[in-house]
Amino acid sequence: MIRSVIRGSGSALPKRRVTNAELAEQVDTSDDWIVERTGIRARHIAGDDETTSSLAIEAARKALDAAGIEPESIGLIVLATATPDQTFPATATKVQAALGCNGGVAFDVAAVCTGFLYALATADSLLRTGMAKRALVIGAETFSRILDWEDRTTCVLFGDGAGALVLEAEEVAEDGPGIIASRLHADGAHNELLYVDGGPSTTGTVGKLRMKGREVFRHAVVNLSSVLNEVLEEAGVSSDEIDWVVPHQANARILDATARKLNLPVEKIVVTVDQHANTSAASVPLAFDTAWRDGRIKPGDLVMFEAMGGGFTWGASLARM
Ligand code: UT7
Repeated sequence: MIRSVIRGSGSALPKRRVTNAELAEQVDTSDDWIVERTGIRARHIAGDDETTSSLAIEAARKALDAAGIEPESIGLIVLATATPDQTFPATATKVQAALGCNGGVAFDVAAVCTGFLYALATADSLLRTGMAKRALVIGAETFSRILDWEDRTTCVLFGDGAGALVLEAEEVAEDGPGIIASRLHADGAHNELLYVDGGPSTTGTVGKLRMKGREVFRHAVVNLSSVLNEVLEEAGVSSDEIDWVVPHQANARILDATARKLNLPVEKIVVTVDQHANTSAASVPLAFDTAWRDGRIKPGDLVMFEAMGGGFTWGASLARM
């Protein structure tokens, strides 16, 4: 069968690292509150010379280097972001131009924190239909630009960054590597729980992020447990066969609650929320890259990716390395 095999991974973070203590000098918050309620200790914040595309390009270059693949052979770039450089053109086309892989397909997907899962499933489908042989799947964000830095209920939660995977369509055996199963969902009835209060067609401004955190939290645990079970069922795999879960990094308590619901030991969950905070579409590939480069995720491992975000949108993918 043809599967999309993960050939390489890369990530990028802005130079400036901001601790909770530094934020507590700007808004009425404390390191204790942030650590206890979220597990976050620090985040990276983009400087004036750093953009969603510059972070995406750095992550993509590292992923291509790791895969040993020339940029010219990439026929598809799917980039997930809610903070593009400009309303258009797609940030994916900026990555394409910088890498010199012109001529293929390049577009952005907008599914906020679930964006990387949407991008991964879309690229996987296109690779399996033969649209391209090799793809870059990127999650890249500069959420610091859409935060209300006077709103302590949101500004302490997010960070900037990017992560990228190189996928290649390959003929593999049933128990071979590649993306095995994916499930995506959206429920627009919950738009008002997590949104940006601006946009080109409404206010003509970029707007700022608004979130009813407690309600998002409640939905997140229910939706994630349910989509994880769907993917396990489709793949015919039980939760104890999973080697690693690479979740969206919104809140350490969501990670713990989801793991408990699935009877997964917490040691199998890759956690980077403490160092990166919530980087929206970048969080899953950033976390994957961390565990892949430090040797925790190895060839042959079964890895579950999952995320939930604004819309609501949510999804999961199971891959063998
Ligand atoms: O990535 C997309 C998906 N997003 C998420 O998954 C986020 C999900 N939600 C969460 O992670 C959590 O709900 C939050 C971390 C956002 C909030 O944690 P919480 O335990 O749900 O706190 P809360 O909103 O119920 O607020 C508790 C208290 C409130 O004070 P009162 O009303 O009890 O007096 C807040 O005003 O904490 C207060 N508070 C803060 N205090 C210090 C809220 N933000 C802060 C802050 N520092 N930064």
